[in-house]
Amino acid sequence: MEKHDDTFNADAAIVWRLGAELFTDSTQALLELIKNSYDADATQVIVTIERGVKGRAGSGRIRIADDGHGMTADAIRDGWLVISASPKRAQKARGETTARHDRMPLGDKGLGRLGAQLLGDSLRLQTRPRPTAPAAAPTVEHDVVIDFSQFIQGRMLTSITPSWFTATDELPDEWEGPEPWGTVLEIDGLSGDLSWLDEQQLARRLSVLINPYRRIDKFRLTVFLDGREVDIAAISRQVRESALGRWHVEYDGAELRVRGLLRPDWFRPRDPDRLKRLQKELALPSGREELCRKIDAVGTLRDYTVKPASPPWLADVTRTFRIPQDLDDVPGKDPGPFEMELDVVSLQLAVARDASLAVFDRQAEYRAWVKQRAQVNVYRDGFVVASGFDLLRLGEAFTGGGSYYGLRPQNVMGYVAISGRDNPQLEETTNRQAFRHSLAFARFDALLSASRDAINRVLDEAGRMGSEYARELQERDHGLFGLTPDELVASAVDVEQRARSAATAISQIQRVLTTVTETACQRSRGIPTSDHGNSPPWAAEIKCSSGRIDRVRGPALERAAGPAQSAVMSPRSGKASAIAANCASASWTNARSMSICSKLSRAVVLSVRKPSSVPLSFFSRMVRPN
Ligand SMILES: Nc1ncnc2c1ncn2[C@@H]1O[C@H](COP(=O)(O)OP(=O)(O)O)[C@@H](O)[C@H]1O
Ligand SMILES: [Mg+2]
Repeated sequence: MEKHDDTFNADAAIVWRLGAELFTDSTQALLELIKNSYDADATQVIVTIERGVKGRAGSGRIRIADDGHGMTADAIRDGWLVISASPKRAQKARGETTARHDRMPLGDKGLGRLGAQLLGDSLRLQTRPRPTAPAAAPTVEHDVVIDFSQFIQGRMLTSITPSWFTATDELPDEWEGPEPWGTVLEIDGLSGDLSWLDEQQLARRLSVLINPYRRIDKFRLTVFLDGREVDIAAISRQVRESALGRWHVEYDGAELRVRGLLRPDWFRPRDPDRLKRLQKELALPSGREELCRKIDAVGTLRDYTVKPASPPWLADVTRTFRIPQDLDDVPGKDPGPFEMELDVVSLQLAVARDASLAVFDRQAEYRAWVKQRAQVNVYRDGFVVASGFDLLRLGEAFTGGGSYYGLRPQNVMGYVAISGRDNPQLEETTNRQAFRHSLAFARFDALLSASRDAINRVLDEAGRMGSEYARELQERDHGLFGLTPDELVASAVDVEQRARSAATAISQIQRVLTTVTETACQRSRGIPTSDHGNSPPWAAEIKCSSGRIDRVRGPALERAAGPAQSAVMSPRSGKASAIAANCASASWTNARSMSICSKLSRAVVLSVRKPSSVPLSFFSRMVRPN
């Protein structure tokens, strides 16, 4: 019997195929090379792209020069020349950070450098290991040239020999690094579709791939395209200043803290007169305080704190969830601490009005800009982890119908910050387009959804309060003229409320109900049913506590949450039939309130959140046509 000693080998074309599948686009391939500089403890990376230059392998050249620790001969042999062998994997498993800047490496798959091959036809790697002594000059330079055209089908990987020269002591003069040590990669003969090498596109894409909201500690990336510096993050700062709302979410393993700031401009009643009136009032501290008080008093925001904020903000809202007590069935395992920031922007905002938006010439330009950036990505130590999907599922939450003023995919920009040290369990897939499913990811996902819902609840209630306040202001100015029927009812209730301060709750409710019913009946007379058959019921809601009616509002009835008893009244017969309505939220359980809702047709619908002391028949007596 004969024993064979054959080994596995690989066709050289595998390298090309791997490279093509790993990167979503050329900018991402470039980013992988930049991430290697970060992992090498570099503080400066200078990317120089020259489209016109004629090089070894064709036209166009990309140079990535860093001041990192460089590579020794062993590092080149074992790291650069062996695909998918990364020393960083074991290093991360040991929890070991880099020597100089205490960084947890971003790479560990040993594939990132294949990005070079996607970008061009030939690669030159020059590297000078950084001496350990502070003032010492490097004494070694390795110069390796790899011609990617060798990676063709039919050749074995092991038959490919890069040209590799090493100089010691007398180092060549030609060195493009920002410091005497580090690594310089030069990719020559740019290949493929070069449309990404456009100043604006490159700036936009890089400011998605590298967190545009935060600086990376001791790391500065500069990109030049044909001699001009590409402005990677500046516009983002300016647009942030124009955001109408800003949310900050912080999770530390024990608590999820949600904090939001809203600008007066965020409150935008549809009616232009009301909008103007509201903005006038919100220019005054008293107006801002009053609106904050109104928002704070909303029943469903019982667990939130709403305070006036210092300009340019109006309201400062906070909510803290203890984990797991305050979140039902939070799944999975602790993903480690993270932070999220979201900016709520407006596509309607006039560019001319806002000085911080002066970078845009036209509204259309601003809109286009926002559209391209309206996304929330996850960054690990500043570098994008997984992107291009609706992380917070804003599309879903929005089309699900729950939220009117809430976060929408088109008006939210922001980021989630995680780190290599704290969140090793949150892993991206190899193509970097999603997270791997894991217990840690399940909880991470649930915490993001809980944050989104908490934010949407505030936005919805605040939005409604803003509109209601605008209506009230207009009414203060003009009395009852020009109000819609439901607003008339609310006003009647409101006037009543202000006139009575000493009466008991029951007697007030009695009067209010009479007024409401009368107005409703008068209003409904003469309006043919078909005109309003499909329109939603209009509603007024009165909330009362301890002998005083303290709030009146007019949302659609189905928005009000909490166990309620409702009655359908016919104004003609005055007969009431009870319908059981059990709404979800617990925050109304003890609220002694009631809602009055009319269909503007033959029947008046009364939804009553009644104090237990008031019998249902009481309301039958109340609601009679005159
Ligand atoms: N700019 C650089 N400076 C120093 N070493 C580098 C640099 N780029 C790549 N390397 C070395 O080459 C190896 C391979 O890089 P890469 O293919 O991105 O895999 P990974 O980053 O996952 O280890 C790295 O582990 C590192 O040792
Ligand atoms: Mg890498």
